[in-house]
Amino acid sequence: MNIRTFPTPELTAAAAAEAFAQTARAAVRDRGAFHVALSGGSTPKLMYKVLRDMPEMPWQSVHIYFSDERSVGPDSPDSNYRLAQDELLNHVPVPPAQVHRMAGEVEPLETAAKAYAALLPAQLDAVLLGMGDDGHTASLFPGTAALNAGGRVAANFVPRLDTGRLTFTFAEINAARECWILVTGAGKAGVLRQVQRGEGGHPIAGVRDAVWFIDAAAGAELQ
Ligand code: 6PG
Repeated sequence: MNIRTFPTPELTAAAAAEAFAQTARAAVRDRGAFHVALSGGSTPKLMYKVLRDMPEMPWQSVHIYFSDERSVGPDSPDSNYRLAQDELLNHVPVPPAQVHRMAGEVEPLETAAKAYAALLPAQLDAVLLGMGDDGHTASLFPGTAALNAGGRVAANFVPRLDTGRLTFTFAEINAARECWILVTGAGKAGVLRQVQRGEGGHPIAGVRDAVWFIDAAAGAELQ
C-alpha cells in the first residue's frame, strides 16, 4: 500500500490538496482538462477547505464529478454535492456546466445511475475517496449489492442505513488514472490495519493502486 502519513488531519488534508493541485495542473497542461470525482465525508471536507485557496489552479478547465450520492436532492444537508458546493465549488471559478451532480432525488435510482454513467468521460483523471469506520468507500458498503455490480455507476440499497445510494463501482474507481484515499482519526485505525494485512474483507480493499493520505491516529496500528 502506498501510504503517506501526517501528524494531524489538517496536514493530511493539505497534502492531499497539494497532490490534487499538481495532478490538475499536469492534466490541463497535457490534455487540456482535469476530470475528477469528489466524495463526501468530514475528511474530504477538510481538503476542500484547503483546495479552495490553492494558488495557480486551472479551475476553468476542471470538470467535477461525484463518486457517490445519497438519495436526496441538491439542497439537502445530507447531499455530497451540497457539501462540495459549500466547501469548495462556491469558492472557485469552475464553470457550472462542468459540475456534474448525481441526481440522488430521481426514482428509481437505477435511472439516475444509468444517466450518470452516460455523462462520464472515457477515463477519469482522479477519484478522491474517504473510508468509513466500517471499511466502506464511496457508497460501497459491506454486504451490499453494488460490491458486485458491473458497469460504471450503480444504485445501491444500504440496509444498515435503510436508504438508497448512487455509487461508482469498483470498475469505475479502478479505471481512473489516479485514486486518493483520505483516512483520519483513531476510529479508522483497526480497519486500516486489517486492510494492510489483507484481512476483514472490507470494501475499501477493492480499490487498487491508490495513494492513501492518513493521519498518525488512523495509522497507529499499522506495521
Ligand atoms: C459518503 C461518503 C463516504 C465518506 C466516508 C468517510 O457519502 O458518506 O462518500 O464514502 O467518504 O464515509 O467519511 P469520513 O471522512 O467523514 O469518515
